[in-house]
Amino acid sequence: MCGIVAYLGERDAYHVVLKGLKRLEYRGYDSAGIAISADDQLKLFKKKGNVSDLESFIEGKDLSGGAAIGHTRWATHGEPTDNNAHPHLSSDGSLAIIHNGIIENYSSIKQELINKGHVFKSDTDSEVAIHFIEDIQKNNHCALDEAVRIALTKIVGAYAIVIADKHDPDLLIAARKGSPLVIGVGKGEYFLASDATPIVEYTNEVVYLNDYEIAVLRKSGMILKNIEDVQTNPYVQTIDLELDAIEKGGYKHFMLKEIFEQPKSIQDALRGRLNAAKGDLALGGIRDYVNRIVSADRIIILACGTSWHAGLVAEYFFEDWCRVPVEVEYASEFRYRNPIVREGDVIIAISQSGETADTLAAIELAKAKGGIIFGVVNAVGSSIARATHVGAYIHAGPEIGVASTKAFTSQVTVLSMIAMIVAYKKGTISQTRYHELLAELETIPSKVEKALELSEESEKIARMFSDATNFLYLGRGYNFPVALEGALKLKEISYIHAEGYPAAEMKHGPIALIDEEMPVVFIATRDSSYDKIVSNIQEVKARKGKVIAIVTEGDVLIPKIADYVIEVPVTNEALMPLVSVIPLQLLSYYIADIRGCNVDQPRNLAKSVTVE
Ligand code: F6R
Repeated sequence: MCGIVAYLGERDAYHVVLKGLKRLEYRGYDSAGIAISADDQLKLFKKKGNVSDLESFIEGKDLSGGAAIGHTRWATHGEPTDNNAHPHLSSDGSLAIIHNGIIENYSSIKQELINKGHVFKSDTDSEVAIHFIEDIQKNNHCALDEAVRIALTKIVGAYAIVIADKHDPDLLIAARKGSPLVIGVGKGEYFLASDATPIVEYTNEVVYLNDYEIAVLRKSGMILKNIEDVQTNPYVQTIDLELDAIEKGGYKHFMLKEIFEQPKSIQDALRGRLNAAKGDLALGGIRDYVNRIVSADRIIILACGTSWHAGLVAEYFFEDWCRVPVEVEYASEFRYRNPIVREGDVIIAISQSGETADTLAAIELAKAKGGIIFGVVNAVGSSIARATHVGAYIHAGPEIGVASTKAFTSQVTVLSMIAMIVAYKKGTISQTRYHELLAELETIPSKVEKALELSEESEKIARMFSDATNFLYLGRGYNFPVALEGALKLKEISYIHAEGYPAAEMKHGPIALIDEEMPVVFIATRDSSYDKIVSNIQEVKARKGKVIAIVTEGDVLIPKIADYVIEVPVTNEALMPLVSVIPLQLLSYYIADIRGCNVDQPRNLAKSVTVE
């Protein structure tokens, strides 16, 4: 949560930082601010609202200066207000900080500082941090980087911080623990940000700061050290990220662009890994460890939200094809449950952002209990990618819309490949079935393309139901996690209450909700439970519910019973979630757009949940 951006160099720092904040707005958008260090002053501007509100507020002000820090906030401590917006100033106003993360022991530090006469203008933990640093600097008569280092040895929690000093406009100090921070390296200039998206238009040379590292940046160069005061060598990496991957490219919203990108993003997940004609399937990243899954007694999948839904689909793959028991755990529950991890268990952690705090903590816990951790991650170089022992990237490219779409299908694609490899090695599926699955997986990008061609159907149905107050999503087998995902997509971006259920569970409670006002979305493609789901549709119709059914092309039965149908191409039952989820993503997108919701930045949410 929260996006931080900073710049030091010869360019107009304000514009670099403002543009960067716009790129990072998906991380938080309840308030924003910028501080510019120039002429022995810190020009500070901050405002409740989004980055454009800040931009209008700033218009016409003196914004010159070659060092600036900026922040777009997702509130943790203190409501979204002008005062609580970052940057925060130290007591005498000479230092400014931007912070992403949570300082857990801030209240004891704050009390100590209050006793010494410090007065705070905000309710934030971040303001406490900068007062604390100033206090240490004054008492120890030390350089700012040393004061930051000492403070960080006492601070407990997670942080990515950048500090500017009004007396030294050629200096920025950055540090991280637990929250992401990337430094872009230019010629005589540095760009800092929570992820690489604000940086790529200037440079593709980056340094990912490690936990407990402090960077001291001047136009003349960078010094890295850890909090034990030992200097480290910056590891400069070249990143492969194109500017058009982070722009809307003519679409009204990032979410719509990302939905339509799925034929390509799934293809990218398959590229270089699958060649069905030759019977080849290999994931380089996990090759040396795959036998650990082959011999696993149990697989534990850790994830949150949509990634958890991808994990549920994978549960069906691994149990069905590999005959290994699977538990799919909410990372947030697993980490606090004193879970049992046995020798012989394999853990698979799934995350788009690679920064989800609960997933990261669950991984650390499973590691401490001796588990071997596989990562299925999108964001290259992210904290989760680095915390896992081994992994396969999903290669979906940047996902900017807060509601996850293309990451889900790419996660399911990669997890299906892992399960196919394991099943083949274990001999738990026949050669024929294995080759059929490879061939079918190769056709998925074109089937998703076909499902997208029917986007108008979803749009039409969205118009009929955009005023609904509740929705029920029902599916069975492989389509049950898709029902959960469809419901999550709808509620998070349109604020319509929606629930996903296994269709058979309807009789155990939700059926009481059904009346003529209640839209029920059935994911009812032709599979082994088709007849059963047809009966469930009849049960809803008997109670006058409005049925929207996702059906397989050519289905003649369900269209006669359901009120509305959307067809998707035929595929293998196990791979159907990759196709059947498409109309549900589109349905929620169009409903949210028709309702005038902020599709890419739904209220209260942020793309990367770096707080627990
Ligand atoms: C829903 C959504 C969230 C994320 C969840 C996990 O559309 O985006 O539910 O799936 O916060 O995030 P990652 O995958 O980044 O760990």
